[in-house]
Amino acid sequence: PVPVVAIDGPSASGKGTVAARVAAALGWHTLDSGAVYRALAWLALEKGVALDDPAALVALAGTARLEFRDGGVAVNGVDVGDAIRTEAVSCAASRIATLPAVRDALLALQRASRRRPGLVADGRDMGSVVFPDACVKVFLTASPEVRAERRYKQLIAKGFNANIDQLRRELAARDAQDRARAVAPLQAAPDARQLDTTAMTIDEAVATVLEWVRT
Ligand code: CDP
Repeated sequence: PVPVVAIDGPSASGKGTVAARVAAALGWHTLDSGAVYRALAWLALEKGVALDDPAALVALAGTARLEFRDGGVAVNGVDVGDAIRTEAVSCAASRIATLPAVRDALLALQRASRRRPGLVADGRDMGSVVFPDACVKVFLTASPEVRAERRYKQLIAKGFNANIDQLRRELAARDAQDRARAVAPLQAAPDARQLDTTAMTIDEAVATVLEWVRT
């Protein structure tokens, strides 16, 4: 089977950045599974579909063309790469992600990213649910303070307004919701290796994961 590296962890723990860099070093594909939930949440907000209506959301996922190509995200042919990064979409994504029917409806789409020569997938349940046979499973963490700072810098770099205190509260609320949900709650898979990046540079985190992949 095509090898998969699964990188899971809470919001703004550095999963996306580390996953992209590890994939580039290996020459593998990436799956930003958060973007899958964000894209559907964005579309639901656009179309006025209720975020607590599983049947309507599943129908929406079935009719929309959601495309994920190594870093880019398009919904019905429209590039939404930046539009899905707002905090409003983050919150909406976390809400629809609590619904088991929505998670099921998005499974095949995520698994379709598994292509030769390999895949680096990041999210909350890559190692536990979507790719349980991943060759390396990483659970990436960082202190809430450092995560809020990272997300602040990321939003500012994209030209969005951001308030660090508000971000801190929103990250905490979203983590709580992701941990408390009944299906695929945010938690390390039993066979995942923990990596706390609070005091690490991106280069150090990437080097650590690459060493795990290569040994
Ligand atoms: O970038 P950040 O870590 O803040 O968020 P993300 O990875 O883009 O995920 C956005 C939301 O989607 C999360 O808060 C989760 O509720 C949900 N999600 C999920 O349930 N399962 C995944 N594999 C990925 C994301």
